[in-house]
Amino acid sequence: MSASHQLDQRARTAFREAFGYPPGAVAVAPGRINIVGEHTDYNEGFVLPAAIDRHVAVALRLRRDRQIALRSDRYGGSVALDGLPPRRQGNWGDYLLGVARQISGRFGEGPGFEAVVASDIPVGAGLSSSGALEVAVAVALLAARGIEMAPLAIAQLCQASENGFVGARTGIMDQFTALRARGGNAILLDCRSLEDEYVPLPDGRLAWLLADTRVRHELASTAYNQRRTECEAAARMLGLTSLREATADDLERIQDPVERRRARHVITENARVLRAADALRRRAPRGLGPILYASHESLRLDFAVSCRELDCLVELAAGMPQVIGARMMGGGFGGCALVLTESTGTDDVEQHLSQGYAEEFHRSPAFYRVRAVDGVMPERAM
Ligand code: GLA
Repeated sequence: MSASHQLDQRARTAFREAFGYPPGAVAVAPGRINIVGEHTDYNEGFVLPAAIDRHVAVALRLRRDRQIALRSDRYGGSVALDGLPPRRQGNWGDYLLGVARQISGRFGEGPGFEAVVASDIPVGAGLSSSGALEVAVAVALLAARGIEMAPLAIAQLCQASENGFVGARTGIMDQFTALRARGGNAILLDCRSLEDEYVPLPDGRLAWLLADTRVRHELASTAYNQRRTECEAAARMLGLTSLREATADDLERIQDPVERRRARHVITENARVLRAADALRRRAPRGLGPILYASHESLRLDFAVSCRELDCLVELAAGMPQVIGARMMGGGFGGCALVLTESTGTDDVEQHLSQGYAEEFHRSPAFYRVRAVDGVMPERAM
């Protein structure tokens, strides 16, 4: 049984145990890696993500009244409410409630619902556990209400919920990936036109390894929103609607040195995404190595979203002949480093990283070996 089917079963069983009857709809959505293209999505730039074999499943049934009851095997505490709240509650339930509010806003208020969340995506590791959760609840709730919506529109709805209800001003990469991904491929997404192209990932001779610092910074979402504001200010300074249109020649016109560095990251990172996609199209994945390292340096120095723990893992990886490339991944300030390695060297890489990291920080990183899978599993009604 595939990882996503197992999780589907887990959510169904947990739902039955919690509520005493089967769910009306179940949806399973994957987390993601991002090969390169960090903090570019909300600047209308390019990203190159792929869905991974780590998932969130949402099992759900509509009620006849307005009551809402949420449970999870991953997040602590249950949520019980009389109707959809107008404001966030400050817990994991917000990801479901925000999406439900978006759906009600567009299609008319629906009844209450019971839902169970099962997940094997580590939370806060930069693997988009929240994006996957939003997509899974959207797909399950739309199915339960008998509403059809195109994948792009669902991704936009989920992003609107995260921006407006949860309060994180994230881009569209995570939700788009959870909906549109295809096994064995990355998605080259143009976040301005929202056109996408599948590009083939390397074959089994190379492997994607995630090394999790296990660092979770409280300030991550505040700093994320701040970066976005800085990028918007830099674009305004240049008289542009987004940094997508900016070029290296524009940089000297940005007076504020911090904003200039942020803009330089976005401009150079967009170029790196296009180069990486090109290497993959040409089936020359070893060409990704220098691109991954350059992305890390740019995120560390210009965008200032790395941390000592991530830098340590990337440095350790860079010292190994089996490693093609490595960089911090996701929003930053903790979470995972992405390592592209020779498959045969994966054990050695893990051991070397574990040892070096423990010497520095007196604890071990966690490792996840991941492969690229399809996007959200079509809802299967009982
Ligand atoms: C988070 C956000 C994404 C993206 C990345 C950084 O994962 O949800 O939209 O901005 O950070 O690339």
